[in-house]
Amino acid sequence: MPDPRFDPDLIPRHIAIIMDGNGRWAKAHGLSRRKGHEAGGERVREIVRTCGEWGIQVLTLYAFSSENWSRPAMEVKALMFLLRDYLQQEREELNKNNVRLMAIGNLERLPKAARKELDISMEYTSKNTGLILNLALSYGGRDEIVRVVQNLAGDCVEGRMRPAEITPEAISNRLDTAGLPDPDLIIRTAGEMRISNFLLWQASYAEYYATSAFWPDFSSEELAKAIAEYQRRTRKFGGLESGEE
Ligand code: FPP
Repeated sequence: MPDPRFDPDLIPRHIAIIMDGNGRWAKAHGLSRRKGHEAGGERVREIVRTCGEWGIQVLTLYAFSSENWSRPAMEVKALMFLLRDYLQQEREELNKNNVRLMAIGNLERLPKAARKELDISMEYTSKNTGLILNLALSYGGRDEIVRVVQNLAGDCVEGRMRPAEITPEAISNRLDTAGLPDPDLIIRTAGEMRISNFLLWQASYAEYYATSAFWPDFSSEELAKAIAEYQRRTRKFGGLESGEE
């Protein structure tokens, strides 16, 4: 049920979040970076539940970027363990809440154990009709676009397609997010004002919202603030506001 604070006609269909600040949160609490990521994982659980309750259709979470592979091996390992545990432990809960799990990114690069849990959870929840939880894993916007271009070029060379048929729709239909609406609202935590290679093509007309809260502190209340701000904005999609001349 949408929260009564919101205009039910202006609920963002797709919210995408750059979850930043686990490390700084940990430092501020005198904890290890691993503990920061664990606290971030707890927040993921809460925000997924809340988005389902508020009638959001798609929640994309930037859980691991293609650039994150360059972090120290110990940290990459800890993040992959956390991901595997999350996928294992949350499967029933996601299913009970009618959440469908999806993933975007270069999934081939994930360690086997995490990939296996991901595949099991995606299959297990594939018939669910509520919130789509879309995890961006080993994801980079440029990497995604390069894969699409290679795919299209291949089809042209093989004669299955003419270059003139490469339209925005043809590109959208081959992105990892094919079939999903573009994000309406992109949130970044921890005060940074960067896109960081996230949903580069899909973000064309998204509203951006930045908060100084570190991801482990990004409560449902913080999400409510972001949605309220989104509802105050006028989206013009490059045109004029209605009534404007
Ligand atoms: C940014 O914090 C966060 C990440 C690189 C990974 C996000 C992962 C989680 C929230 C936890 C696990 C996710 C799931 C789906 C279970 P940072 O380390 O860049 O923080 P910093 O910039 O303060 O150092």
